Amino acid sequence: MSTRHFLSLLDFSSDEHRALIAHAIDVKQKLKQGIEHTPLKGKLLAMIFEKSSTRTRVSFEAGMYQLGGHAIFMSPRDSHLGRGEPIEDSARVISSMVDGILIRTFGHDRIEKLAQNSRVPVINGLSDLLHPCQLLADMQTWFEQRGDIAGASVAWIGDGNNMCHSYINAALKFGFDLRIACPPGHQPAAELVQSGGGSVTLHDSAEAAAKDADLIVTDVWASMGQEEEQQQREATFAAYQVNQSVMSQADSEALFMHCLPAHRGEEVTADVLDSSQSVIWQEAENRLHAQKALLEFLLRPGL
Ligand code: CP
Ligand code: NVA
Repeated sequence: MSTRHFLSLLDFSSDEHRALIAHAIDVKQKLKQGIEHTPLKGKLLAMIFEKSSTRTRVSFEAGMYQLGGHAIFMSPRDSHLGRGEPIEDSARVISSMVDGILIRTFGHDRIEKLAQNSRVPVINGLSDLLHPCQLLADMQTWFEQRGDIAGASVAWIGDGNNMCHSYINAALKFGFDLRIACPPGHQPAAELVQSGGGSVTLHDSAEAAAKDADLIVTDVWASMGQEEEQQQREATFAAYQVNQSVMSQADSEALFMHCLPAHRGEEVTADVLDSSQSVIWQEAENRLHAQKALLEFLLRPGL
């Protein structure tokens, strides 16, 4: 059987996604109850971080440890990845020694090249194009709060970035409607929007996208690698801030999510981020549980 990778949510079927979320909820309960669950004894995960991370690094490293395995952190600063060794060669070498590889990098093509040359599963820990691991945690959080997300209405407000793209993929896989509002010039990739068919719609304002939504989601205005555009983006995105006025357009029971880190007073006001509708801490914690389910799925096929 060919090696399964997780470069995008599209790599798994809808049924696999739902099974994974159910398993994530189960491993979370086991951990809370102090029940040992170590199916990955002796397994190794190499973690390549070419961009910064708090949540992704800690959750994968803690997750591997809790599952009985071990994680190896690698950065370009102290490996040959930063000195020009081709990613294809690195893939051959690293995958001959470990059971899985996580990578966070810039160009998505770099992750694809790594996967093409790896004998073991490769996990996308964020690229400029996609952030699928975050969506597993977001979906788990919704399922815990409200049950299945099929048929719900989700509003994405802000930048048409990697998170927005993964929300488009999630709309397809989980069967929810996605209403997107981004400033001109910062829309998500057109081919991705088209791939969403009727379930993905573009709106002219944050208020229009938020209308009657069950979930409001946003992310930073300048992603990693766009730091120099920060000031200009603050002006461009000003009308796309998630504030109480935008939240008031949504369903009164609507939830708010943000992958974090957040910039209070920029893409979201502090009163929304810290409100009772906000589930950001549960969402962040679920990175650990959802990715443990993912690691079991990929590193112990047949589960
Ligand atoms: N949300 C997220 O991926 O956080 P980190 O950048 O801290 O990993
Ligand atoms: N869009 C953000 C997500 C960070 C988790 C970035 O790529 O920097």
